[in-house]
Formats: sequence, C-alpha cells, structure tokens
Amino acid sequence: MTPAVPLRNYRKSFNMRKKENKNGDLLLPKSIREGLKTKIFGRREIYSLPETDSTNIRAEKHAEAGAPEGTIVIAGKQTAGRGRAGRKWFSESRDGIYLSIILRPELPPVKVQGVTLMTAVAAYEALMGLYDLPLFIKWPNDLLINGKKIAGILTSMDSGGERVSHIIVGIGINVNNNISSMPGEIRDIATSLSHESGKRCPRVKVLRAFLESFEEKYMLFTGGKFQAILDAWINYSGLRGKYVEITTADKIIKGEVTGIDNNGYLLMESGTGTRHQVISGEITKIGGPF
Ligand code: BTN
Repeated sequence: MTPAVPLRNYRKSFNMRKKENKNGDLLLPKSIREGLKTKIFGRREIYSLPETDSTNIRAEKHAEAGAPEGTIVIAGKQTAGRGRAGRKWFSESRDGIYLSIILRPELPPVKVQGVTLMTAVAAYEALMGLYDLPLFIKWPNDLLINGKKIAGILTSMDSGGERVSHIIVGIGINVNNNISSMPGEIRDIATSLSHESGKRCPRVKVLRAFLESFEEKYMLFTGGKFQAILDAWINYSGLRGKYVEITTADKIIKGEVTGIDNNGYLLMESGTGTRHQVISGEITKIGGPF
C-alpha cells in the first residue's frame, strides 16, 4: 500500500524535529496544552510545523479556508519570516517562537491597530511575569530590552467591507537565540531572553504564558475595556511626556508624547503647540528636544 504522505517527507520532518528538540523543548500541541489555562487560544486547532515559509502566510491560508478564531500556527523555523514595513524577520534559529493566531472579532478595519497594541501588552505582561527584565514597548509594536529588540508583532487583516473578516496576529519572540550567530545587520539591534537572563528559557513555558496573557487581553478588548489596555500600553512604553522624533512615510514629526487615542494612534504636541495624531511610522529618536 502507498502511504498517504511519502516516507521521505516523514523522515525529513522527523529529522527537523530532532534538531529542534535538542533541549527537550518541542512546541507540539500536546506539550503546549499541558497545564495551559485558556479557553480559546491553544484550545482549537494547533498547526505545529517543523519548518515553514511564514506562519502568517500559513495562518492566512487556514483563515481563508474557514479556520475558527483561536486557531494557531507555530513553526520551529521560518524560511521567509515577515517583519513590519516589508522587512524580513530572522527565523533561521530553531530557538525562537514564531507564532500566528487567527482572530475573528466584530471590528471595523480602523480598530485593528488596537489588536497590535493589545498583543504588545499581552507579550509584555507574559514576559515580565516570567523574567524580571527591563522590558519596554516601543510604539507601535516592538518589545525592547536595553534598546534591543526581543519581540516583534505583525498584524494583517482581511478587510474590504465595514467589518474585518479575520485578523492574523503574528509574533516572533527571541527566546534562546544566540545573538552572535544572527546576521550582521541585526546582531547589534537584537537580543533574546536567554541572552538577557543568562539562562536557557523553555519555549513552551514562554508560549503558554503568552497565550494566557493574550486571551485575557483579548477578552478585555472585545468586552469593551480597551481603555485598560491603552493605560497599560502607555505605562509600559514609558513614552508619556517624552520628546520623540517619528519618521513617517512622508515626513518627520518631532514633539512630546501626550497619549494614545482609542484607535491606537500616538498623540503628540510640538513646541509650537501643534497637535499630531500619528497613525504609523517609526520612532527614530527619543528623549530630546533634538
Ligand atoms: C516586526 O517587524 O517587528 C514584526 C515581526 C513579526 C515576526 C513574526 S514571526 C511569526 C509571524 N510570521 C511571520 O512571518 N512574521 C510573524
């Protein structure tokens, strides 16, 4: 009888898992669910792949095929990990977390930025609950330690109507990644949990803590308590009252951060009293006046 999946594919997948499991820390559905205190996230389908192009691409396909909210895709390694602004996300090491989650909230597209902020708050609280590290959220969605990036979030949506049909939240967390083996262009701007804490960090523990925190924040978000998330976000960013420079697609805005609005847009006031509502961009300087 011909097996449904060719034997060489089983072998390839087995060998990839073996490499990834060198520290007994495989992200398989069974180990993820063990002791997991969630009702939705990690409770529906978990697609755990030894290797894929991008978990966001895979999750998008599952969402288009009708996968329910709470479905997650996780990979040991990504060959085409996507970052923000068309950048790549370094995913060659089998020591990180590469995760995408399918959401189906009743939401107009303008509110989707809120999901990104919510995810940053969830990740911040999950990591702070496990490790005592000087974490900081950099607007809109980077998690940094001592100015170096430890996690990034990439949210995409299927819009077109008044309501989004689904949202894909992708998060990459550098867990046991060895910084010296990262490519030159990111070696000086990235860090990992093990690098900062000085010990190996079980990925499965980090993932479970993140899923639990994510579910808690998502309940607040969908339950009309977004203000609580915004308050946490502004605290964890430490940005209120700070002077920043933001580079957007067409200009540079300088001013003091006064807050964040209901849609997750950053509010700023320049020295001349002009108010700005910044939808997207990159914080290029912090702590001026410049
Ligand atoms: C950023 O540029 O900061 C966002 C990085 C997001 C990376 C994650 S890894 C899992 C998911 N799949 C992807 O291809 N990207 C996101």
